[in-house]
Amino acid sequence: MDFYDVVKSRRTIREFCDKKVDKEIIERILSAGLMAPTNDHLRNWEFVVILEKEIIEKIISPLPKTISKKELDSVIETWEVGAPFQKEMYENAIPKQYKMLIQSECLILPFFKQESPLLKPENLSALNNFASIWCCLENIMLAATVENLGCAMRIPFEKETEHIFETIKHPKEYFMPCYLAIGYPLSNNRTPEQIKQNIKEKIHYNKW
Ligand SMILES: Cc1cc2nc3c(=O)[nH]c(=O)nc-3n(C[C@H](O)[C@H](O)[C@H](O)COP(=O)(O)O)c2cc1C
Repeated sequence: MDFYDVVKSRRTIREFCDKKVDKEIIERILSAGLMAPTNDHLRNWEFVVILEKEIIEKIISPLPKTISKKELDSVIETWEVGAPFQKEMYENAIPKQYKMLIQSECLILPFFKQESPLLKPENLSALNNFASIWCCLENIMLAATVENLGCAMRIPFEKETEHIFETIKHPKEYFMPCYLAIGYPLSNNRTPEQIKQNIKEKIHYNKW
């Protein structure tokens, strides 16, 4: 695939079929992750790869399995979602949070090393480790696209992060920015349209 086709084809996939993902492919896409830019040249990233449904179930047990229409509307209202296409995305995504993680045949828990307090950064540079793992994640998602795989991310709530620590027992100085579900997309996946952007309106040559 041409690079720009890969970028265009990558979409968040929240519905997967039950085809297993080969370990070789997983290793290839994670290797692409390890080539991403990194603030300190160290690439202090680790990946817990879970291929067993029962273990995935255990990891994601704090997540609600379903959400009622009333709860969904209330969440969307609290988040003050304004634009209709954005509302459509949340209406599609929120009810699928548990399902997309359990349905994927491969759940990846990426970790980055962070020794200073992540949630009380003293300056922008203090967030460099966090920023770098997202570069790594984008490489992984693009590589997954080339392999005809789809990815879904979820940012864990605090109680989920605590549960992961208790279950995985990872070193204390490592943080998980998101869950990353990887799998073969269902053919009728619903991917809300991306907002149309005109690059000419986004670029400010020489001055804003
Ligand atoms: C920092 C970040 C956090 C996200 N958090 C979630 C999440 O918690 N759950 C989810 O289903 N999708 C999550 N997403 C995926 C976005 O909803 C998705 O990327 C966005 O709607 C654009 O759609 P696209 O990826 O198909 O282009 C997240 C994406 C990013 C970059």
